[in-house]
Amino acid sequence: MIISVSGAGGRMGSLVAGTVAVSPDLELGPLYDPHHSGAMVAGQRISDDPASIAGADVVVEFTEPDVVMENLATWRSLGLSAVVGTSGFDADRVARLRTQWGSGPPNCLVVPNFSIGAVVMMRLAEIAAPHFAAAEVIELHHDRKVDAPSGTAIATAERISNVASQSRAVQSTELLAGARGADVAGVPVHAVRLPGLVAHQLVLFGGPGEMLTIRHDTTDRTAFMPGVLAAVRAVADLEDSVTVGLESILGV
Ligand SMILES: NC(=O)c1ccc[n+]([C@@H]2O[C@H](COP(=O)([O-])OP(=O)(O)OC[C@H]3O[C@@H](n4cnc5c(N)ncnc54)[C@H](O)[C@@H]3O)[C@@H](O)[C@H]2O)c1
Repeated sequence: MIISVSGAGGRMGSLVAGTVAVSPDLELGPLYDPHHSGAMVAGQRISDDPASIAGADVVVEFTEPDVVMENLATWRSLGLSAVVGTSGFDADRVARLRTQWGSGPPNCLVVPNFSIGAVVMMRLAEIAAPHFAAAEVIELHHDRKVDAPSGTAIATAERISNVASQSRAVQSTELLAGARGADVAGVPVHAVRLPGLVAHQLVLFGGPGEMLTIRHDTTDRTAFMPGVLAAVRAVADLEDSVTVGLESILGV
């Protein structure tokens, strides 16, 4: 299976290219990144021509939120299945993508978080939520992360709220605005930003006389690679032309 990478000059794209290059069952196809044209990644020269990746089976897209939709239209027109890691796929954007992509094959898989630990953490939180009176989420990220709270924290709070009615279960007056965190579907979400952190999240559940903490730590970008490889191997066989998340592939 030939895998190309769009955004190949970036932090994630170059790591994906290197990971695919050493995966025995995959072949690294042409690389695309208009801002890093000519640079060498995983033994290949990056092209600035999107048509250069036409011969691939799957393209992995790790680019920027304002270019990803146009790129996906190109990959669709070239008949390529796509695995998308680029941020910014809120409900509106996913709905637009479903219309833009149409019916498959090829298929498109959008994955807001490729970390298998994070996917399992969200599922564990969903299992725990109905058994506890109250839940709060604390996410901690490096100081270069520009947005807060993280997409994973929002998704975790929404999934807790979908299975348990804990909406603001604990009443507490804020002496300073924001002291109790952001209200995400009734679940308080607190965001910490500090140099030295990578990406971390705690989901705390409280009940009479006991607490459960589910904690996930990402210490390096390599955490995303097993999820990326699982996605590229599975995307062509997915039932729906546009799928969001790794859950169905991992069976969690
Ligand atoms: N889903 C996940 O698990 C996950 C994990 C990490 C990062 N991300 C997201 O992935 C994206 C990339 O992250 P990064 O750290 O590699 O960023 P980066 O800035 O290092 O890389 C982005 C790359 O996209 C390239 N690019 C810009 N316009 C392009 C275009 N039109 N076509 C092709 N390439 C283009 C840039 O030149 C750059 O090399 C971000 O949106 C980030 O939030 C997602």
